[in-house]
Amino acid sequence: MRGFSDRMGALRESPTRRIDAIRERLKRENRDIIVLSAGQPSIPPPPEIRAMMAEELAKESMDLYAYTPSQGIIELREAVAEDLKRLGSLDVKPDDIVITAGGQEAMFATLMTILNPGDEVILMDPTYFGYKPIIEYFGGKIKRLRLSMDDGFRINVESLKELVSDKTKAVIVVTPDNPTGSIIDEETAKAITDLAKDKDFWIISDEAYRTLIYEGNHVYMYKYAPDNVISLNTFSKDPGIPGWRLGFIYGPREVISRVKLAGEEMTYCPPSFAQRFVAVYLRSQVRLKHIRYVVEQYRAKRDAAVNAIKASLPEARFTVPKGSMFIFVDLANYIDDGEKFAEYAMEKYSVAIVPGSYFSEQYRAAVRVSFVWESTNRLVEGIRRLAEAAKAYRTR
Ligand SMILES: Cc1ncc(COP(=O)(O)O)c(C=O)c1O
Repeated sequence: MRGFSDRMGALRESPTRRIDAIRERLKRENRDIIVLSAGQPSIPPPPEIRAMMAEELAKESMDLYAYTPSQGIIELREAVAEDLKRLGSLDVKPDDIVITAGGQEAMFATLMTILNPGDEVILMDPTYFGYKPIIEYFGGKIKRLRLSMDDGFRINVESLKELVSDKTKAVIVVTPDNPTGSIIDEETAKAITDLAKDKDFWIISDEAYRTLIYEGNHVYMYKYAPDNVISLNTFSKDPGIPGWRLGFIYGPREVISRVKLAGEEMTYCPPSFAQRFVAVYLRSQVRLKHIRYVVEQYRAKRDAAVNAIKASLPEARFTVPKGSMFIFVDLANYIDDGEKFAEYAMEKYSVAIVPGSYFSEQYRAAVRVSFVWESTNRLVEGIRRLAEAAKAYRTR
């Protein structure tokens, strides 16, 4: 009998891929599209590390081409442990770390490891859209905790408590968040981890943007509840190798050993050359200098974007992001439907943004603006086009 897995019904084309496909079509028509939709860095990794890699590639050796241990090379796991110690004062053993093929594999392997059909997972609204399809693929049930722009998308722990039931398997906390750029504070992190210990659920702490912080500090939730927190990370944003597919998870060893098995079945091992590259990067003299440089560049772009939005979209509502690469802009005073508007803005005004509805059930007239990908001039021009599009859309 021919046919397909029922579970595949949970999977859809990635929302940003849809925007990318329209953009590709317009590009083929020679349209100059300003890309405010990309969630990837615009600054390549440090030249010193790239030069080192070029030398290694020239060697007559299989080292960079061979399979690696499925948990990742020990050199990289040690470098990650040192990095977590240096930046977060965490004591994580290399055995409590598993390297993955990007953040996406980290998410899939973790949810594969912990979820049974019918388990409940609490997701913030808004938050990163990548979790929903995977949770549904594994038969999990999503409960959304609504966060409000009015109080900076702060997680209200009392409201979270109301959503927790005896079926709650995990709460997912993305900080700094995509798309809002909000970061959790120590007090909230502590209250959520206390709740996790009390009610015995996992916290999936997504730290994809942990080093891209413009104000404040990253809070490592793991330090409050090392037995409950599974922390997901990617090297896609820092040092900026999204196409090389590398990330890592740290957490309780009973989780790590199982995630390792999941990864083994999916990819067998993460890419060898990327592992070597990042191990050298994390231990290098240039690592901290590079982050400082990147944060400085992105902060300047963020500020330019904030000023441009204030000037050209006076009725837009947003909070200034403290981290990540995005501004989540509520255009409810201009438009009614972010998804239709995103297509309109691209087709008519040649500017690409991501609709807010991909991240949120409540902010349906919002859009996510990425401020890192384009040059500052093009970023400001893109926001000018966005404003023109919003005003034209309103009076259509
Ligand atoms: C919050 C968050 N988590 C995870 C990921 C996935 O990481 P990767 O691109 O390495 O698969 C992303 C990607 O944009 C992200 O924004």
